[in-house]
Amino acid sequence: MDIPQISFPNTDKEFINNPYPYLKELREKSPLHLDVESGLVLITHFDDVKNVQKSKNFSSSEPENYEKKEATIVDKKDYEFFWKTEEFNLLNLEGTIHSELRGLVAKAFSNRQVQELRPFMERKSKELLEKVNRDSFDLLADYAQPYSISVIGELLGVPEEDYDKFLYWSHAIVKMYDLKVSDESALEAENAAKEFYIYMNNLIDSKNADPQNDMISRLSQVSENDQKLTRDQIICTVILLLNAGHEATVNTIGNSIVALNQNDIETKDLHKKFEIKDIIEELIRWDSPLQFFQRWVVEDTELSGYELPRNSKVAILLGSANRDNLAFSEAEKVDFERENLSHTSFGGGVHFCLGAHLARLELEVSFQNLFNYDIQLLANPERTGAFGIRGFKNILVKI
Ligand code: HEM
Repeated sequence: MDIPQISFPNTDKEFINNPYPYLKELREKSPLHLDVESGLVLITHFDDVKNVQKSKNFSSSEPENYEKKEATIVDKKDYEFFWKTEEFNLLNLEGTIHSELRGLVAKAFSNRQVQELRPFMERKSKELLEKVNRDSFDLLADYAQPYSISVIGELLGVPEEDYDKFLYWSHAIVKMYDLKVSDESALEAENAAKEFYIYMNNLIDSKNADPQNDMISRLSQVSENDQKLTRDQIICTVILLLNAGHEATVNTIGNSIVALNQNDIETKDLHKKFEIKDIIEELIRWDSPLQFFQRWVVEDTELSGYELPRNSKVAILLGSANRDNLAFSEAEKVDFERENLSHTSFGGGVHFCLGAHLARLELEVSFQNLFNYDIQLLANPERTGAFGIRGFKNILVKI
């Protein structure tokens, strides 16, 4: 059976504004679709996404001798510094190297260490909200971004005066993760990766000379069976923690507040009406900040009745899976009392989000403070234009 072919409208403005009606149509027509431009097989149903995440027939690592068929997909290895910051990115690794590296990173990133950041988060969140102009401010630039970057900065042990540089590098580098990447964005990502790489090397040197209670110091020290992380592995991990952690958390705060407004749900005292944990999970499900991840097929596989040959590539559409009516009753509705809260926004299987405990705590502290206010949108916020990393350019609000 041939997989139905489509031209995925991932740069179409209307689609970016609200991809869910189109994704619903896709799910209803067929669980799998082939995007003719990128050559990716798009996986739209919740159960299939879960199966791909758990199956060994799908890999996040590029297979040896893989021949790139589509000119629209950037070969990340062509960009030297981008690749230096990517080579040991957990997201791209599989098998023993992935489990060993992940084990070491997890040791330096325990729940206890994350919980220790709570007082810092509370202080920072309150401080930022006290500083805003309550009649009009940008929820992202004035609150979510400085909040999230300072939490990651505090976790890692990065000097505060360098946060702006970190933010710029992160924004430039993550553009490489979209479905189709322009040459201009790829070059900007390469330059940012170079600066970041050099900066990190110096920072690790100074941490080694004078270790602190922070993640960069811990990553340099942590060991298991006499194994330690190499310099490049630490650099790739720090960059991953920043990129994976920062944007997704900022966009979850933004997407969530807009979602509440769009669904006519009052923000004031919301945390007193429902469990804060249920609010967080439901809002992350409803508008996932990360819409897709790619996997290579490493063994001929059948999925929902279709053959997927070895060396083909798939994209698991997390946002679509989260709106699948076969998995969630009335999936289009925001419902803080739904029984099934097991969405795919934090991924699944061996690549399940390593920072989910930090993200959940950041969101809990943040929402608890934000929900002390009635937050009103002052204008219709504009989406960034990217499909993969789903967020807004800015969100003008009053509280
Ligand atoms: C709301 C916020 C967040 C969301 C929605 C999110 C989502 C995800 C998803 C979907 C994956 C799996 C990717 C895949 O399947 O290939 C992932 C992996 C990962 N996330 Fe998060 N994330 C968030 C916050 C964070 C934070 C705050 C950190 C750390 C500072 C973090 C660190 C990581 C890391 C290190 C991985 C790679 C794990 C691996 O490949 O073994 N994330 N995240």
